Amino acid sequence: MKKLIRYSVLGICFLVLVSFSFHSYQVQKYDYDDFETPGYCNQCHDLFYQQWDQALMSDAYNHHWDEIEYFELAVAHSENDPDMAGVHEGCNGCHTPMAYLAGDMPPPDPKTGPRANESVSCDVCHSIKGFTGDVPFNHNYIIEPGKTKFSSRKGKTSSPNHEIDTTAFYTQAEFCGICHNEKSPFGVWVKSTHLELKEGPYYEEGVVCQDCHMPEAPAKTAKMGARYNDAKMHLFNGAHDPGKIRGTVEIRMTPDRQELVPGEPVVLTVTLYNQKTGHKFPTGSVEDRIVWLHVEATDEKGNVYHIPVDPKGFEGEEYTIAGEELAYQDMGVPLGIENFEGLRREMVPLGDRIFRMPYFDPQGRMTMMQWNTDSLGVDYRIGPRETKVETYTFELPYEIAPGTLTFRAVMKYRLLLKSVGQYLEVPEEEYQAMLVNEQETTVTVYP
Ligand code: HEC
Ligand code: HEC
Ligand code: HEC
Ligand code: HEC
Ligand code: HEC
Repeated sequence: MKKLIRYSVLGICFLVLVSFSFHSYQVQKYDYDDFETPGYCNQCHDLFYQQWDQALMSDAYNHHWDEIEYFELAVAHSENDPDMAGVHEGCNGCHTPMAYLAGDMPPPDPKTGPRANESVSCDVCHSIKGFTGDVPFNHNYIIEPGKTKFSSRKGKTSSPNHEIDTTAFYTQAEFCGICHNEKSPFGVWVKSTHLELKEGPYYEEGVVCQDCHMPEAPAKTAKMGARYNDAKMHLFNGAHDPGKIRGTVEIRMTPDRQELVPGEPVVLTVTLYNQKTGHKFPTGSVEDRIVWLHVEATDEKGNVYHIPVDPKGFEGEEYTIAGEELAYQDMGVPLGIENFEGLRREMVPLGDRIFRMPYFDPQGRMTMMQWNTDSLGVDYRIGPRETKVETYTFELPYEIAPGTLTFRAVMKYRLLLKSVGQYLEVPEEEYQAMLVNEQETTVTVYP
C-alpha cells in the first residue's frame, strides 16, 4: 500500500513537471518592446479598439477577480506547496501573453500600471501564426511579433504602418481554442469550450466562435481604409454581458392538469432548450460558474411555496441539487489556513436544480481552483441545442387558497460562486445573480 502511495505521488510529481514545462520553451523569447500597444493600433483601428476595450479580453490580467485569484490563490499556492511550484506561470500564457513571453512572472502589481495590463492585446492576437501539435490548448500558439500582422483579410487599401499576411487560421475555431481549452497539471480538461463546439451540432455546419463573438457587420476596418459588408466586430462579449446571458435557455413549463383541489399532486414538466450557445452552458471557467432553476407556486392570497426538483437518480446527482454541504477546502493551502473547513458549495435555495460540472482535487473534494483539478464529476450542463427536461411534483397543501395558482420558473446564472466571492472579498458585481430566463403558467384550485 505504502509503495502504491509512493508511486502515485511520484506519478503526480512527474505529471506536474511535464505539464508545467510543456510550453516554457517560449518563455523569455520576446520582450514587451517587441509588441505595439493597443493605443498604437487605436490611431487607425479606432472602432475595434473601443470594442476590445469594453470586452474582458483587455482586462484579463488586471480585472479584479483575476487579480485576486492569481495573486491570493495561484501565486500563493505555488509558494505554499512544493508540488505546485510554478503553477501560476501558465496563467500568464493566456491572461497576459506578453508577460509570459518576456518571462516576467509573476508580473508587477496591476495597480502600478505595467504593460502586463494590456492582457490579450491586439498585437498579441495578430502575431499568432498557428499552434503546435494537433489540438489547440494551454497557449500552444506559434507567435511572431513584428512588422507583419496576420489576418483573414488582406484589405483593399494598404496600411502605412505594417504589412499584412493572410491566413485562413483566423476564421477557424482552433484559433480561439489555443486559450479556450485548458488542461490541468493532472491532465484533466478544465476548459474545453473549443472541444465542446467541435462535438456539438454547429461545428460541422461551419459555425465557429467568430460567428457569435465577432459578428460580421458593415463598417470600415480602419479609419482611412475601405468599407466592408462583413467587417469582423471585436465584441468578445460573453458571460460578463447580461444581455448575452439573457435568453440563452428557453423555458416552457407544463402542468399535467389544469384543475386541482387541495391535497392533490400536480406534476410540472419543464423543458429547457439551449438556443444560443455553440458550446455548453455554462462553459469556460466552469469551476466558478453556476446556473440554477428555481420553481415556486403562488396562490390567490399571495402565499408562496417553493418546489424542489424531482431527483432523477443518476450518478453524481447530489452535485446538481442545491444543498448545504461545504466544499473548496483545498483553498486553505494557498490561504495558509490549516484544516480549512471549507465554504458553502453553493448558496442557492435548497432543492433547486443546478446545471454544472463539479471539479475535484486530488483528495476528491470539490475545488474551484482549476489548476488543482484531478478529476471531473457528472457533466450536467446544457449542451448546444440540447433540451433538458426536469419535473417538479407539488402536493397542494390543504391550507392553499382557492382560485388561480401561479407557477413560476426562473433560471439564474452567477459568474462566481457567492460563498467564494464573499469570502475572498471579490466585488459583488462578480457574483450577482443574472437572469437567464423565466416563465409563468397558471392552474385553478377549487375549494
Ligand atoms: C491569447 C489567448 C486568447 C485567445 C487566442 C482568445 N482568447 Fe478569449 N479570452 C482569453 C482570456 C484570458 C479571457 C478571460 C478574461 C478574464 O476573464 O479574465 C478571454 C475571454 C473571452 C470572452 C469573454 C468571456 C466573458 O466571461 O465575458 C470571450 C467571449 C472570448 N474570450 C472569445 C474568444 C474568441 C471568439 C476567440 C477567438 C477569435 C478568443 N476568445 C481567443 C484569452 C484568449
Ligand atoms: C497608421 C495607421 C495604422 C496603424 C497604426 C495600424 N494599422 Fe492596421 N491597417 C491600417 C490600414 C489602413 C489597413 C487596411 C484597411 C483596409 O482593409 O482597407 C490595416 C489593416 C490591418 C489588418 C488587416 C485587415 C484589414 O482590415 O485589411 C490587420 C489585422 C491590422 N491592420 C492590424 C493592426 C494591428 C494589430 C495594429 C497595431 C499593432 C495596427 N493594425 C496598426 C492602418 C493601421
Ligand atoms: C452559436 C453561437 C456561439 C458560438 C458558435 C460560440 N459561442 Fe461562446 N457564447 C455564446 C453565448 C450565447 C454565450 C453566453 C452564454 C454563456 O455564457 O454560455 C457565450 C459565452 C461564451 C463565453 C463565456 C462563457 C462562460 O460561461 O463563462 C466564452 C468564454 C465563449 N462563449 C467563448 C467561445 C469560444 C471560444 C467559441 C468557439 C470555440 C464560442 N464561444 C462559440 C454563443 C456562442
Ligand atoms: C483574441 C484575439 C484578437 C484580439 C485581442 C484582437 N483581434 Fe483583431 N482579429 C482577430 C480575428 C480572429 C480576426 C479575424 C476574424 C475572422 O476573419 O473571422 C481579426 C480581425 C481583425 C481585423 C480585420 C477585420 C476584417 O473585417 O477583416 C483588424 C483590422 C483587426 N482585427 C484589428 C485588431 C485591433 C486593432 C485589435 C485591438 C484593438 C484587435 N484586432 C484585437 C482576433 C483578435
Ligand atoms: C489555456 C489558457 C488559460 C490558462 C492557462 C489559464 N486561464 Fe484563466 N481563463 C482563460 C479563459 C479563456 C477564461 C475565460 C473563460 C470564461 O469566460 O468562462 C479564463 C477565466 C479566468 C477567470 C475568471 C474570470 C472571470 O472574470 O470570471 C479567472 C479568475 C482566471 N481565469 C484565473 C486564472 C488563473 C489563476 C490561472 C492559472 C492558475 C489561469 N486562469 C490559467 C484562459 C486561461
